[in-house]
Amino acid sequence: MAKTDYVIEVKNLKKAYGSNQVLEGINLKVERGTMLALLGPNGAGKTTTVRILSTLLGFDEGMVTIEGHDVKKDADAVRKVIGLTGQSAAVDELLTGRENLVMMGRLYRLTKRSAQARAEELLEQFDLVKAAGRPARTYSGGMRRRLDLAVSLIAVPPVIFLDEPTTGLDPRSRIAMWDIIKQLMEAGTTILLTTQYLDEADQLADRIVVIDGGKVIAEGTAAELKSKVGKDRLELTLKDGKGLIAAVKVLGKQVVDTDDKEHSATIIINDTNKDVQKVLEALTKAKVTLASMAVHKPTLDDVFLSLTGKQKKAQTEEEK
Ligand SMILES: Nc1ncnc2c1ncn2[C@@H]1O[C@H](COP(=O)(O)OP(=O)(O)OP(=O)(O)O)[C@@H](O)[C@H]1O
Ligand SMILES: [Mg+2]
Repeated sequence: MAKTDYVIEVKNLKKAYGSNQVLEGINLKVERGTMLALLGPNGAGKTTTVRILSTLLGFDEGMVTIEGHDVKKDADAVRKVIGLTGQSAAVDELLTGRENLVMMGRLYRLTKRSAQARAEELLEQFDLVKAAGRPARTYSGGMRRRLDLAVSLIAVPPVIFLDEPTTGLDPRSRIAMWDIIKQLMEAGTTILLTTQYLDEADQLADRIVVIDGGKVIAEGTAAELKSKVGKDRLELTLKDGKGLIAAVKVLGKQVVDTDDKEHSATIIINDTNKDVQKVLEALTKAKVTLASMAVHKPTLDDVFLSLTGKQKKAQTEEEK
């Protein structure tokens, strides 16, 4: 059978829960043997997307194919080629770690003996040998994540979905999880990973798609995204609301965000030294007095601010 270049293809995917439009036309393509990171804040639609791609959830419009199989028309074929782990994965709380693995192996139609052998291999690899005989409900968050991933790897699928595999892990477990994911990549697995962390996407992914409010707001390699948003941010705090209005008037379009409660305005700066000086000069000239100011290096929040800043601005301008 001829295989497509893109293992995962999503076109104009739309999904609503009642009147809540959760996905507003998502497009994704993942090439064979690469990792795409779906990066977005809480509620962006990451889990919804992953659940749809893994046939667990229906959708309203668009088209999704995995290895050329349509998830709607050919869900069984899709299930055969995917592994799923993360927020929605199926670890049975009452079974032990070992039992969970063996059971999943049996589901994948391994013989009893090879399911057992594979289970021992994975317990070893994921550092769960000691805990293997305890029910999964007694596991710590980190152990659970590892079991979750181990379960999804019982039959080493060619395509794997990882839904926030490291959220809530301590730094050491996080790096251990990254190592495991890198091993998967070396084995040629095609991966779609969701994350809220820019550094995680940066470390692991070949390409990144940023989603917010069910829409793709940016995409590219980590380097491309950083060059777009990797600017410093200057936060100016004024004495009161009047001061804020005056400052916004002086700075005009440079202001990408304001906080009325804190009387603060945020602007993106390209050249820290020059731009800060310019801003100060402009404010002094207009007799606007600052309460404080601070320069922030980019964080993921700033990525979103910078990417969605335009929308916010357009709104402010409409309101005027
Ligand atoms: N079963 C459901 N019924 C109604 N609304 C839902 C349901 N599941 C998710 N939503 C809504 O869909 C939106 C997207 O949720 P989703 O779980 O996909 O976000 P996410 O990007 O995975 O967020 P997080 O980082 O918190 O996991 C949210 O507004 C959420 O409240
Ligand atoms: Mg989620």
